[in-house]
Amino acid sequence: MYSEQVKDQLDKLKHKDDIIILGIESSCDETSVAIVKNGKQVLSNAISSQIDIHTRFGGVVPEVASRNHVLAIDNVYKQALEKANLTIDDIDVIAVTYGAGLIGALMVGVSFAKALAYNTSKPLIAVNHIRGHISANYLNSDIKPPFICLVVSGGHTAILKVVDYNSFSCLGSTVDDAIGEAFDKVARVIGLGYPGGPKVDKAASEGKNNIAFVTKDNLKKSYDCSYSGLKTAVINYVHKLEQKNQPLPVNDICASFTCEAVNPLVEKCIRACKQNNIKQLCLAGGVACNSYLRRKCQEECNKNGIKLHYPEPVLCTDNAAMIASCAYYNLKSGVNIENLELDAKSNLPL
Ligand code: KG4
Ligand code: ZN
Repeated sequence: MYSEQVKDQLDKLKHKDDIIILGIESSCDETSVAIVKNGKQVLSNAISSQIDIHTRFGGVVPEVASRNHVLAIDNVYKQALEKANLTIDDIDVIAVTYGAGLIGALMVGVSFAKALAYNTSKPLIAVNHIRGHISANYLNSDIKPPFICLVVSGGHTAILKVVDYNSFSCLGSTVDDAIGEAFDKVARVIGLGYPGGPKVDKAASEGKNNIAFVTKDNLKKSYDCSYSGLKTAVINYVHKLEQKNQPLPVNDICASFTCEAVNPLVEKCIRACKQNNIKQLCLAGGVACNSYLRRKCQEECNKNGIKLHYPEPVLCTDNAAMIASCAYYNLKSGVNIENLELDAKSNLPL
């Protein structure tokens, strides 16, 4: 019964000018529900962050995250409709992140989305979280593929060639840790705590790049990169100073680490644009908020005649607007249109 009604709805949507999608995101520590028109116009983007809850544990505790998604999701859903001044009857499609992420956390969003789709007989679209981050670039902007995309988040570091809305090739990625993970680890080791990235960013802006962390050449010629060596170099440097009871130059550690982490990525992105003859570079994921990364990319793009685009900070970190945007392009290409059998997947390739 559900499938027949959905088939009718999908046929009707083929002739509808404006498509309104309600997106749901719960893959890590933000519960978010958003409403987006035609993949671009954000009508609402309600987010309930669990940062305060996880701060006292020094990082995200998966079980605690799942429980808090359950507590928050109904309210966040109501807020999203209210802020957009719409009712569920105005929504054409339900979209949800189904991976990658924390399995218990993902299951909350997926179960909520399935129940909503069933109850309203609306189509259900599954969204890959990382593809969602890339789609954040389409929100409130006129950016269109092709472009090179630097995906930098807590779990991913990759340079992609985005050929079309649903066609990607991965030029390179981290061979070990993700860059966001390295930011978070460095923050913890020098006592800045969770969430690490924004704190390291702020401290770096007051420090100097004057410590040479000995690392590999960050896989110079390829588009791949590595962060475990840099992470260890910072840890060893900090331990040596602690053993000698010397004060930590926190701001300089942050500035030096940030330059070492970011500069090779920027060089690789510019090279990827040139080699592929693409004149647009987009940034995606939480680390795309980093002020040094943004500045450095802008400088290098200006020198090389490349247009740089990045979403506003709230659309770089986890949010449901990017999920609703990605679902719009999935719908247009007939990709990931699901039935109620949809399952969450903790590991999901791009
Ligand atoms: O995309 P995201 O919100 O979640 C994942 O999908 O992983 O990214 C979170 C990551 C965290 O590692 C966080 O420390 C980092 O993004 N981050 C930053 C900044 N803001 C968030 N890293 C560096 N500088 C920032 N300003
Ligand atoms: Zn994310």
